[in-house]
Amino acid sequence: MKTALFPGSFDPVTNGHLDIVSRAGRIFDRIIVAVASNESKSALFSMEERKKFLEHVCMDIPNVEVISFKGLLLDAARNLKVSAVLRGLRAISDFEYEFQMAMMNKELDSRFETVFLMSSSQYSFVSSRMIKEIVRLGGDVTPFVPPIVNQALKEKRGKILEETAE
Ligand code: PNS
Repeated sequence: MKTALFPGSFDPVTNGHLDIVSRAGRIFDRIIVAVASNESKSALFSMEERKKFLEHVCMDIPNVEVISFKGLLLDAARNLKVSAVLRGLRAISDFEYEFQMAMMNKELDSRFETVFLMSSSQYSFVSSRMIKEIVRLGGDVTPFVPPIVNQALKEKRGKILEETAE
């Protein structure tokens, strides 16, 4: 059984992430979406919230499960005995970071494989960071995020504004 681990911050999950998960679900037997605790980044949504949104939006995709992980991605991939780590690639700008991460993980463990799926064109410019910026500035992100996330972003707008005022 071929299992892919799809790691990310998912702060919050976007329709671009969902596009990758659903397309990968047709290639792999099983997808494990792994929410990283990522202590270096201060997240807008808690780990529980990010995981809850993912569980909700992936509910109808049968071969997907959602977990969280702390520490090295490499260790999570080893413990879960996955065939590959899956990442989405939007534009050339993503490539440098993704290349470095894939190469470093491969250097740490030669069995580590990263598989990339290109974003569908309608999501090639969608990122969690930009979604939060649009919400902060009062814009509408309805086309880019699932409804549950859109609602949660509206409720968190105060926190986004507070954080950027500091
Ligand atoms: O959605 P993101 O923020 O682009 O995801 C980045 C993520 C979580 C995949 C990356 O930061 C990661 O793998 N974090 C776990 C810690 C780790 O293994 N770091 C070394 C990578 S070479």
